[in-house]
Amino acid sequence: MIAIDDVTVAFETVTAIADIDLQIQPSEFVTIVGPSGCGKTTLLRVIGGLESPTAGTVTIDGNEPAVSRDAGDLGFVFQDHTLLPWKTALENVQFLRRMAGKPPDEAQARSLLESVGLDEFVDAYPRELSGGMKQRVAIVRALHLDADVLLLDEPFGALDELTRDQLGVELRRLHEREQKTTLFITHSVPEAAFLGDRCAVVTDAPGRIETTLEIDFSDQRDTELFGSVEYQKQVADIRRKLYDSVEDGR
Ligand SMILES: Nc1ncnc2c1ncn2[C@@H]1O[C@H](COP(=O)(O)OP(=O)(O)OP(=O)(O)O)[C@@H](O)[C@H]1O
Ligand SMILES: [Mg+2]
Repeated sequence: MIAIDDVTVAFETVTAIADIDLQIQPSEFVTIVGPSGCGKTTLLRVIGGLESPTAGTVTIDGNEPAVSRDAGDLGFVFQDHTLLPWKTALENVQFLRRMAGKPPDEAQARSLLESVGLDEFVDAYPRELSGGMKQRVAIVRALHLDADVLLLDEPFGALDELTRDQLGVELRRLHEREQKTTLFITHSVPEAAFLGDRCAVVTDAPGRIETTLEIDFSDQRDTELFGSVEYQKQVADIRRKLYDSVEDGR
């Protein structure tokens, strides 16, 4: 479980996040939505052990985040894919796992790349891949690390809407199979509704989480869901909470 207790991060001139409380259960997929500059990346960096809280605590299965990170128990996917240009897709996927001191498993790396439609690009270099393909490699790289926790910061932010939808469907399918505890940051309300088991709405800066919404669809999460009434209603609910939280802060 990820336990975030009363976390505040204050930089010299701004308080990025204030008094954040959030518990994320094993295998849960939580989406975090909020306006630009409200502290989403800061929150993810604290959970990932890349930033220390000014007040409050974060633990991951009882450990400090930096301990989990160093043990290879956290997989990151950033907005920018951060692939190594001199390594192929397969080598990029394997590299992080090797760095974490875990035993190599080329068959699993290949099969994950195939499961996101990259069968023919296993030996391609990042410069030969489209933006969407690079993000797929970055997600596979994080999954191949076989960490229990996945932290994603707007991984589809720079992609066109169609690719974004397709990757969302793939990510949700992977989640149902792999059951990683997942935290996914996005600007996009429809994306937050589609992906999450729960959505946390962050207020305008300094970011606070005053509302989380449970998301449960009777239909399977594929592109068919986009047209359903229950999905549209979920999107509207999150959007309303987002507007409320921004207005409350002004
Ligand atoms: N290392 C830092 N030093 C000083 N201020 C920082 C630092 N990192 C973030 N901030 C400030 O903290 C606030 C929150 O930034 P953060 O990047 O977490 O927002 P965000 O919600 O991720 O925004 P976006 O949606 O645009 O990515 C901003 O005012 C930013 O300027
Ligand atoms: Mg950010």
